[in-house]
Amino acid sequence: MTDNSAWASVDAYFAGRLLPPDAALDAALAANAAAGLPAIDVSRTQGRLLTLLATLAGARRILEVGTLGGYSTICLARALPAEGRLVTLEADARHAEVALANIAAAGLSHQVELRLGRAMDTLPALAGGAPFDFVFIDADKQNNPGYLDWALRLTRPGSVIVVDNVVREGRVVDADSTGEDVRGTRAMFDRIAAEPRLLATAVQTVGDKGWDGFMIARVS
Ligand code: SAH
Ligand code: DHB
Ligand code: MG
Repeated sequence: MTDNSAWASVDAYFAGRLLPPDAALDAALAANAAAGLPAIDVSRTQGRLLTLLATLAGARRILEVGTLGGYSTICLARALPAEGRLVTLEADARHAEVALANIAAAGLSHQVELRLGRAMDTLPALAGGAPFDFVFIDADKQNNPGYLDWALRLTRPGSVIVVDNVVREGRVVDADSTGEDVRGTRAMFDRIAAEPRLLATAVQTVGDKGWDGFMIARVS
């Protein structure tokens, strides 16, 4: 059995050195907890990774699938220039309500648009607009193949696509899994394997959210 407390200690050390106290993110987590939302947001260090990746990508238009309380939304929106915009998709009206309040408290309402509904229903309306420079997929994992297809449709050469929770404590390697999340993520990797437009990798992460990981890809 792996010692998760050591992973959490290292995350706390990095947070202490690299992530100064952050009132907006702390307030968002407190509001999420008060509203009874599940604590399945990305971690502090992972949130910083999202800010970094979107900044490095020079993102001006960001798409997020799966808002929850807006923790990752805030991390991503901070990468935007003043005129940049982020669209985030959320199916749960209560999650959306909490997220909108957190995003407002973070001073980011003018840059963030939340669309309520199941993402496979709300994604088609985004077609025809300007392409997204960065897509973060973090909703119901059984739809990951569909979300990847939409991400390819809604981006341009040079865009970056990131998918959360692709390891799930190692369950991703279980080819016989009956879990819809594992099956969805594996089907997504099958599509990536057959997609010449994607230069992709996956990175395993450990820390205070356990053992999981991100798929990171560039569209060409
Ligand atoms: N990105 C967030 C965590 C998202 S948790 C963060 O790191 O802070 C996953 C979210 O996806 C939940 O809020 C859940 O309600 C939402 N979700 C689940 N199924 C969905 C669907 N079909 N369409 C859109 N959102 C969905
Ligand atoms: C869980 C974690 C996530 O980051 C997520 O997006 C969905 C579920 C979880 O730990 O159950
Ligand atoms: Mg996630």
